[in-house]
Amino acid sequence: MLPYATAAEAEAALGRAMTRAEAAWLRYSAFVPDHLLYCHNVAILLILYTIAPLPLALLELRARAAPDGVAAAVMRPSTYKLQPRAQLSPAAFLRCYLDTGRVLLLTVGALSLVSYPAVKMVGIRTGLPLPSAGEVAAQMLVYLLVEDYLGYWIHRLLHTRWGYHNIHRVHHEFTAPFGYAAPYAHWAEVLILGVPAFTGPAIVPCHMTTLWLWFVLRHLEAIDIHSGFNFPFNPTKLIPFYGGADHHDYHHRVGGQSQSNFSSVFTFCDYLYGTDKAC
Ligand SMILES: *[C@@H]1O[C@H](CO)[C@@H](O)[C@H](O)[C@H]1NC(C)=O
Ligand SMILES: [Zn+2]
Ligand SMILES: [Zn+2]
Repeated sequence: MLPYATAAEAEAALGRAMTRAEAAWLRYSAFVPDHLLYCHNVAILLILYTIAPLPLALLELRARAAPDGVAAAVMRPSTYKLQPRAQLSPAAFLRCYLDTGRVLLLTVGALSLVSYPAVKMVGIRTGLPLPSAGEVAAQMLVYLLVEDYLGYWIHRLLHTRWGYHNIHRVHHEFTAPFGYAAPYAHWAEVLILGVPAFTGPAIVPCHMTTLWLWFVLRHLEAIDIHSGFNFPFNPTKLIPFYGGADHHDYHHRVGGQSQSNFSSVFTFCDYLYGTDKAC
């Protein structure tokens, strides 16, 4: 909800003409309450979760159904597929998708309803001007680093006997992960992982659209590291210290006993704390 209803009022308040993106944002958000804008997160997340892992899932199912076809040929160089012998049935894909979708809807939905006062308090804004690209990029970098560091320690705690047995073992049900298994976890884990995701924006508050983008980015990152494929042409290979599917896949392959490769985004915490070695 913006304090001005017309473009003229907004431009008077800004002291300049609006950019095209700002005009679109004004048209969209002028009469939408801020809490509802924040709750867009739930829809964005569910749509993204449905669409982003789909191409590789279809490729795998196609390859399985027609072992002599084009899809199978694409997958054949077994260096792309990290665990080539793992094969999931269509029913297993569907069960993972439906279970995860339900958990996401309930936990992220409930969290979005109750956490809005905190979002408002830390200073997430919805008005104009929209942030510049540079501001958004700097904020994303901070959020990634904060999430990586806190996420590392939370993940390590989840591998204690109690944490693993009561919570984290759900996420490790798939020893050969795939995109749809990225947010597959106990509801308590989904809630707990909201803390490192939200700490960055709490320290360095941003615009609501940046917050949406951040949740999109971290979800895409999670899907990427769980994809089960290590493509040499994956653009994430250009990001320094990015762990990628390679790094996290080992962690899933070893499973509950794993005491290594806890990092989700970058690899420095594993190097720093010596958990990059097998044990
Ligand atoms: C951790 O990941 C790296 C790739 O980043 C891999 O080479 C290494 O073998 C993994 N270590 C363990 C113990 O899983
Ligand atoms: Zn784990
Ligand atoms: Zn995982």
